[in-house]
Amino acid sequence: NAKLNQLAKNAGKLYFGTATDNGELNNTQYVSILSDRREFGQLTPANGMKWEYVEPEPGVFNYTDGSVVANLATKNHQLLRCHNLVWHSQLPDWVPNTNWTKETLKAALIDHVTHEARHWASQCYAWDVLNEALNEDGTYRNDTFYAVLGEEYIKIAFKAAAEADPTAKLYYNDYNIESPGPKSTAALGIVTMLQEAGLRIDGVGLQSHFIVGSTPTIDQQISNMKSFTDLGVDVAITELDIRLLLPSNATNLQQQSKDYEASVGACVQVEGCVGITVWDFWDPVSWVPGVFAGYGDADLWFANFTKHPAYYGVEAAL
Ligand code: XIL
Repeated sequence: NAKLNQLAKNAGKLYFGTATDNGELNNTQYVSILSDRREFGQLTPANGMKWEYVEPEPGVFNYTDGSVVANLATKNHQLLRCHNLVWHSQLPDWVPNTNWTKETLKAALIDHVTHEARHWASQCYAWDVLNEALNEDGTYRNDTFYAVLGEEYIKIAFKAAAEADPTAKLYYNDYNIESPGPKSTAALGIVTMLQEAGLRIDGVGLQSHFIVGSTPTIDQQISNMKSFTDLGVDVAITELDIRLLLPSNATNLQQQSKDYEASVGACVQVEGCVGITVWDFWDPVSWVPGVFAGYGDADLWFANFTKHPAYYGVEAAL
């Protein structure tokens, strides 16, 4: 029986992959599924490449956690999506707490992106250069970077990433940009803004943290993906999980299967959608229960390592 990455490749995609994290890697049953390249052809470190781990003090770089997942992907012959270089969240305190001028923040941003992207340059298939820069209404999130530098910070980040890693695909990555609307339109605007500045952007990551029963339809997802690929960039589903209101039962698990099938099916139908990544595959290590009270069972494998019906929904889509 073919597994998910094999099916994705047969469907013309580059990979079916998963996020993973250092804490899970001591579970042998988990690691045997994670490392099966027929199931997962791509890994994303869920935390270890974020600014708070990589540059905890100004100019002090630590690649330990991120390298564990990067080196596992290399060992397993899996693609690596590197995540992320610039984000408002999981920053070390010194970033928001420094009294920046435009000049000092620009220098710190270039320094961070350059060191980090150079470090993993031989390993990253893609970089999420910029994560979650937009508000729901399509305006820019007023984080430290935007407050000090304005839209210019986005150009600074993509320029430094392109110079530091000429071969990785450079992505903008966000949530709630998976169906047409003001936030998706603003993400299209980031792509065209960079293109008009003569800077490289290769793709847009559609995080796809969905809720059972309110996942966008396959047609909404397809037309949204095409609005990006029409600009000449790739798209990828980068953080797919579909949470349900606990407890799970036959009804909500069946709906979850339909919802996974719609999302994966949209990627299959859009030529420029290169691959699908789930935001981990095993319920006990999902970020969902800790962040969305009452929700869970968002992944493809239950705690006892049996498969959700949604696994077969994904299979049907591929
Ligand atoms: C999450 C991780 O899974 C958690 O372990 C961490 O505590 C918080 O961040 N969007 C993203 C990811 O781009 O980086 C987030 O990952 C989930 C939402």
